[in-house]
Amino acid sequence: MKNTVATFAEMKKNGEKITMLTAYDYSTAKLMDEAGINAILVGDSLGMVMMGYEDTISVTMEDMIHHTACVARGAKNALVVGDMPFLSYHENASQAVHNAGRLLKEGRAQAVKLEGGAHVKEQIKAITDAQIPVMAHIGMTPQSVNAFGGFKVQGKGLDAAKRILEDAYIVQEAGAFAVTLECVPEALATLITEKLDIPTIGIGAGAGCDGQVLVYQDALSIYSDFTPKFVKHFANVGEVMRQGIASYIEETKSGAFPAAEHTFKIDQDIIEKLK
Ligand code: KIV
Repeated sequence: MKNTVATFAEMKKNGEKITMLTAYDYSTAKLMDEAGINAILVGDSLGMVMMGYEDTISVTMEDMIHHTACVARGAKNALVVGDMPFLSYHENASQAVHNAGRLLKEGRAQAVKLEGGAHVKEQIKAITDAQIPVMAHIGMTPQSVNAFGGFKVQGKGLDAAKRILEDAYIVQEAGAFAVTLECVPEALATLITEKLDIPTIGIGAGAGCDGQVLVYQDALSIYSDFTPKFVKHFANVGEVMRQGIASYIEETKSGAFPAAEHTFKIDQDIIEKLK
């Protein structure tokens, strides 16, 4: 059954955990969809795990539309959420609506995600007024890496915790259907989850959230440049790939591949006539 923003609301009401992973291509999205994931985030994390940048700052709308469209073709039942990249919504509400609309019209996402609380409330309101569902993202927001001075846990002190709680109320009030809580202490995320009507999706925010999201290359041990504390490795796909690639190299060099069953036949008479 197709997951929608209504499914998210229903799952929170029923105390059912929401599952979300990132994906950036058709085949991976199809696998996740078949496994029964509720939502796929086409995160701007693709800048790091797909494109090799050290952060998400350089990701463009074109990058996001391209990958969102690939994922949307593979996801039948999962809700596809397209991430709005750095400076694609910061200027004003009209820029935000225009770019959110592109992720739906050209990328075929069913919702968008953007980072920030109080300072992007007008953008969230304008996008939701345009009938585009918005997932907010507060706490450690990677597009602010330069303002934060690194990828650091947010909301540990009283003032910082208060600001994150206020941001959570503000994004809900502005119309967000869900909010990602990234890298905030577990007790704060649990409190926010209890106070909000909309679902919270945690990443590095503990088990009290209504759902969880992870970057799939982290969860499956494919990306090894940097592993945040909150990542659990659910499978060692990176190692399986390494072994498979090594076998391919070895068998190609030795001539064991391709074998007879991998080749196409032709009548030997034809070959003789060609000689
Ligand atoms: O870009 C992304 O993948 C994200 C998740 C880390 C939540 O924003």
